[in-house]
Amino acid sequence: MATLPLSSPLTTNAPFLTKPPSIFIHAKQRDRFRVLCEQNQKGSTKSDETSNGKFDRRNVLLGMGGLYSAANLVSSSSTFATPLAGPDFTKCSRGTNLNTSQPLDVDCCPPVATEIIDYKLPPVTKMRFRPAAHLATDEYIAKYDKAVELMKALPADDPRNFMQQANVHCAYCNLTYDQVGASDLKIQIHNSWHFYPWHRWYLYFYERILGKLIDDPTFGLPFWNWDNPKGMAMPAMFVKTSSSLFDARRNQNHLPPASTDLAYTGTQSVDTPQIISNNLTVMYNEMVRNVQTLEDFYGARYNTGTQPDPGPGTVERGSHAALHVWVGEATSSGEDMGNFYSCGREPMFFCHHTNVDRLWTIWRDLRGSKTKDFIDSDWLDASYLFYDENAQLVRVKVSDTLDNKKMGYDFQKVDTPWLKNRPVARAKKSKVATTTAAPSVDSTIFPAKLDKVVKVLVPRPKKSRSKKDKENEEELLVIEGIEVDTAKFVKFDVFVNDEDDNPNTLDKAEYAGCFSQVPHKNSTRSKTKIRLGLSELLEDLDVEDDEKILVSLVPKAGGDDITIGGIKIIYAS
Ligand code: C2O
Repeated sequence: MATLPLSSPLTTNAPFLTKPPSIFIHAKQRDRFRVLCEQNQKGSTKSDETSNGKFDRRNVLLGMGGLYSAANLVSSSSTFATPLAGPDFTKCSRGTNLNTSQPLDVDCCPPVATEIIDYKLPPVTKMRFRPAAHLATDEYIAKYDKAVELMKALPADDPRNFMQQANVHCAYCNLTYDQVGASDLKIQIHNSWHFYPWHRWYLYFYERILGKLIDDPTFGLPFWNWDNPKGMAMPAMFVKTSSSLFDARRNQNHLPPASTDLAYTGTQSVDTPQIISNNLTVMYNEMVRNVQTLEDFYGARYNTGTQPDPGPGTVERGSHAALHVWVGEATSSGEDMGNFYSCGREPMFFCHHTNVDRLWTIWRDLRGSKTKDFIDSDWLDASYLFYDENAQLVRVKVSDTLDNKKMGYDFQKVDTPWLKNRPVARAKKSKVATTTAAPSVDSTIFPAKLDKVVKVLVPRPKKSRSKKDKENEEELLVIEGIEVDTAKFVKFDVFVNDEDDNPNTLDKAEYAGCFSQVPHKNSTRSKTKIRLGLSELLEDLDVEDDEKILVSLVPKAGGDDITIGGIKIIYAS
């Protein structure tokens, strides 16, 4: 939920209004809100428009002439939310370690441009083709290798240069930008509904820059097909030391033929057949079982004026995060791929994210007639800045990312073996919840530190729901107030009514999902939440009539650094 920052300069001695005027009732009334605010500002020289043409919330609020107390603002806060915009490159700062107040030892601020153009998707004349990396031809690999070589050879201050491109990722994740319109809050495009659209734009321009360098308008990035057993190893093209696609800063134990582990915890502890089977279950959960609602796939809403890290979607916190850490060096900071500040320096990163981008397209197709995208203007109108293939700084919008074909590229078609991989229960009809010694959720249990397994009984507000109820609303396990240090890799798994209790076996219906986080350099405590779909899981365990479920939180990495605020079950559509 959108909340105003506590340190916001909005606190005034204004009279307390118990009922906000109707202009704050709904975000859709923003236009009317704007008019009223402009009237309110008459005679003021202050502009309501920021340099990006966005409505500046602070000016609005200050311009309200003290109509509001902070308490009112918080209670009606979501109506104030405005789409994330910008950022302002002139105000990029290297960033501070928020724990130590020391400046970071990495500077990833981009070159500043005098002109920003609103980007229009060019008409598609030729489709770019994105092949599966493990199926790519020698000819394609040679072309790609050449393009990256040319990118590395561009002048260091050219925004299309390889390191400059790597820094684009660093700057948008390492808390180097203030939010435009709420400068006391930072921009973080991960762990929220910006994850898919932002990375789609990032790859889009990266691909166009490479295509331009080799003069090939059909060039498309390869995707690392890690959701298919045939692609579950580092793609060979990245491993040849003489190639421009090589990076020395990788976990040397994970070079081919090691199987990629989509549930990687920092140590590869199970054998290959179990890894592959786990991987397919992870994919099924992330793409089918746990994503009945938009928020669960995309991540939680995050706007100007709201705190970063509201909550990651399934793929982001699961397979995506696991492979970042699996590829990077086996050190606490995990360069290059295992840390958000450095992952753009790893050519394999772009291959990894091209698959994430492909999964977005597949998920939208799987939705059929169900809603595929938020219709919320706070999402559709959100904007980011990138340098395009002509080194022109452009402003792009989320609303232009919804259809990859309109963006001029498509993916090679390959099998999706996880699609029919619905896991089966190990302990059917177990009524585990009635025989366990685990305590019920109450205020004495949370907040709980995850330095050991936490088992708790969670009450279900509704039971024996009809088919129709389940179609209308998904039952969701919400784990909230997850507090972590953002500079560390952390991970925990969640099991429901699990009597098998082997934490390395994930190919079973009892496995509900995970939380994990790729570290970034800027160490700060962040508070986030996850939601795990239960409707299908409860069906598979045959416990839909039970009043409680037994939830096990199993720390897998950095448990000492994870605190859980609470657990509950909700229903959402
Ligand atoms: Cu922006 Cu996979 O990270």
